[in-house]
Amino acid sequence: MENYYDVKGLTAIITGGGNGIGKESALILAKSGANVVISDLDLDAAELVVKESLSFGIKAIAVKCDVTNEGDLENLVNVTVEKMGTVNILINNAGGGGGGREKFLELSLPYIQKIFMLNVFSIYKLSQLCAPHMIKSNYGSIINISSMAGQMATHNMSVYGSSKAAVNQLTKYMAVDLGPIIRVNAIAPGAIKTNALMSVLTPEIETKMLSKTPLKKLGETEDIGMGVLYLASPMSKWITGQLLPINGGGEQELD
Ligand SMILES: NC(=O)c1ccc[n+]([C@@H]2O[C@H](COP(=O)([O-])OP(=O)(O)OC[C@H]3O[C@@H](n4cnc5c(N)ncnc54)[C@H](O)[C@@H]3O)[C@@H](O)[C@H]2O)c1
Repeated sequence: MENYYDVKGLTAIITGGGNGIGKESALILAKSGANVVISDLDLDAAELVVKESLSFGIKAIAVKCDVTNEGDLENLVNVTVEKMGTVNILINNAGGGGGGREKFLELSLPYIQKIFMLNVFSIYKLSQLCAPHMIKSNYGSIINISSMAGQMATHNMSVYGSSKAAVNQLTKYMAVDLGPIIRVNAIAPGAIKTNALMSVLTPEIETKMLSKTPLKKLGETEDIGMGVLYLASPMSKWITGQLLPINGGGEQELD
């Protein structure tokens, strides 16, 4: 049988690839044969991931990139094309917000704009820059890392949650506008043990989260990385415009 998970020879850009979900996704893609471009605000972290990736016998480079900076995004794609020849897979992973700390009545417009710039507007720009190369190479898969917060509604998370809801809908529109060569899908992670989660998780919150999670554990970064590989590879060749929740079958709320 053909190896449908084979991404050998394809080039993937991963934003926020220096840590957490982005790092694990990059390593799983590299292990499966993809060349990886690890971009992050933190160049040192990205370079460490490159070092690990190279052990799988693929090509890997690190590029410093703040996804909220248009010039950085242009540089990221230019360097990728110059060093790797093209881009076939884009993981729009860098993102964040003040989960549980966004007190609605105190939210400032600059903060709201900053979070939408990070979680939503960056996806427009980087996807626009990558799409022509994907079309030219006849293979394109864009994967937007959303969040369960885009569907749930809990306290003090309105900016993060609504920006991720925008990502979910944007994914569907992009799939319509960028097909048939480029597929666009999103993943909605539940609570995944990364630095971002650990900064707000307490034992009490974890116990409450597990009570609503059929699989009785929080997620690991590799749970998302394996979803990324599925959506990046030909295994999902007739799937586009979809949101894949990876959440242990439940809802993990911060409050
Ligand atoms: N961890 C979770 O439980 C969880 C749940 C749902 C969704 N998510 C989403 O997953 C994605 C990754 O989160 P994570 O938990 O792995 O985070 P993380 O904090 O572990 O890693 C994020 C990485 O992104 C980089 N980064 C931050 N801002 C950036 C910017 N402006 N430009 C480029 N790089 C930047 C950081 O330097 C870091 O290396 C985010 O979009 C987040 O919203 C995470």
